[in-house]
Amino acid sequence: MGIDWGVGRYEATGELLAPVSEVVVGLVGPLAGRPVLDLGCGTGNAALAAAARGAVVTGVDPAGRLLEVARGRAAAQGLDAEFVVGDAAGIPVKDQSVELVMSVFGVIFSPDPAAAVAEMVRVVAPDGRIVVTDWLPGGPLTVVNGTAAKFMGEVFGGGDGPAQPRDAADKPKSLAWHDPEALHAAFAPYGFTVEVLRKSLVFDNASAEEYLAHSAQHPMAVSADAALSQRPDAAELRAELKSRLLAAAQSVNEDPEGYRITAHYTVATARRA
Ligand SMILES: C[S@@+](CC[C@H](N)C(=O)[O-])C[C@H]1O[C@@H](n2cnc3c(N)ncnc32)[C@H](O)[C@@H]1O
Repeated sequence: MGIDWGVGRYEATGELLAPVSEVVVGLVGPLAGRPVLDLGCGTGNAALAAAARGAVVTGVDPAGRLLEVARGRAAAQGLDAEFVVGDAAGIPVKDQSVELVMSVFGVIFSPDPAAAVAEMVRVVAPDGRIVVTDWLPGGPLTVVNGTAAKFMGEVFGGGDGPAQPRDAADKPKSLAWHDPEALHAAFAPYGFTVEVLRKSLVFDNASAEEYLAHSAQHPMAVSADAALSQRPDAAELRAELKSRLLAAAQSVNEDPEGYRITAHYTVATARRA
């Protein structure tokens, strides 16, 4: 089941992920005057980073509330960027009209990756680039988010429950956006080559509890909590989930004096061969 990214407060996570957008924009070279698309822009991290470098930016996202936040941030920073509601499977942008398509942990949530690839290829200019980030599976985020997914599966029986973190490897039409071979298979039919870099993002908090309080505002956590609230034993279920999440979060802590986890992600760049 799809998730409504407008619920909860994705802003809290968006702040933590902003350094990734800076990395992506830093990798792509001069942007002044160039048309750029931030696909799955959320609260506008990559869009605003590109606009700050003079790009002519369009941000696209299905979540209208997040686009409002992005517009507010652009205004507060005195940056010019257009934000439009849309989906990766039908990008509201003309053919070959952008020199750079960026998607920072955005298109990876598309339920139809084949359509998303076709659309990104359609909108990018002949000598343009498509840059997509994805989390590498198996790291601390997988441990913590996977704990929530498993719990929801137990409570609601079978599958992932009502609102779950992505587990692309299990879905029939999925694309492993971090995997060079899978990306090659997806893009090669369009005459594109793909290069994949690995990067890391550190999350620092005073404690595991503080980290979890932050992630509790994430749309997936808020949707899961709303589903649990429908159950007569909601209080017990919430307490059990909280305790399992704390154990999982503590199991991946790298800092005995506080709380630190290091998440690894990929930056894939596709361009016409
Ligand atoms: C983890 S957030 C990343 C947001 C932003 N790029 C950032 O770095 O903070 C995922 C974003 O992907 C968007 N998204 C989910 N499904 C999508 C789809 N099918 N097409 C485009 N964007 C989608 C969500 O609305 C959300 O804003």
